[in-house]
Amino acid sequence: MRFFVDTADVDAIRELNDLGMVDGVTTNPSLILKSGRDILEVTKEICSFISGPVSAEVVALKADEMIAEGRKLAEIAENIAVKVPLTWDGLKACKVLTGEGRMVNVTLCFSTNQALLAAKAGATFISPFIGRLDDINLDGLELISDIRQVYDNYGFETQILAASVRTLNHASQCALIGADVMTAPPSVIKAMANHVLTDKGLEQFMKDWAKTGQKIL
Ligand code: G3P
Repeated sequence: MRFFVDTADVDAIRELNDLGMVDGVTTNPSLILKSGRDILEVTKEICSFISGPVSAEVVALKADEMIAEGRKLAEIAENIAVKVPLTWDGLKACKVLTGEGRMVNVTLCFSTNQALLAAKAGATFISPFIGRLDDINLDGLELISDIRQVYDNYGFETQILAASVRTLNHASQCALIGADVMTAPPSVIKAMANHVLTDKGLEQFMKDWAKTGQKIL
């Protein structure tokens, strides 16, 4: 499973990228707000050191305007994936933009039917939001599993980009289900290194090592 990092925080992306943990980046209007930076400027900076897909989201609601915004965002770099919302207009924009050879990430997906439409409109990525379904007592991971089955049933090439990933269980289950990509905040990716038994085992090793009185260096 590829890892995209879900942030517009350049320092956080660099830290994870230096460890080989970043296969791409996703942003959205809320993350741009959080960064406090200009969308064109920060996206360009991210693309200067990330070679995988970098999603930048349109904010228009009508297809024609989404297409115009998407073309402008795509001018930033060759690896821009234009992010459009899963609305009827978003699907129209997806069809046009993918027809022009651009990568398109269809976002705010909350149902299998929506994912099916995005695939038929030629989406490069579909972004089902796991955490936000869990928020309303639905099962976000079940949606990932259902979309996997539907796409496999018919051989759709649209990649499942599991989004709104907030927990360690979300991450591991996405990998088990076979999501193509997971996008998660840096904090979730870093927390994947943690295990209580690792901490406990290390503490014991340190105690025993101290008793040996030895040094390696
Ligand atoms: O990629 C979409 C993601 O940013 C949404 O996450 O936690 O705001 O639901 P969240």
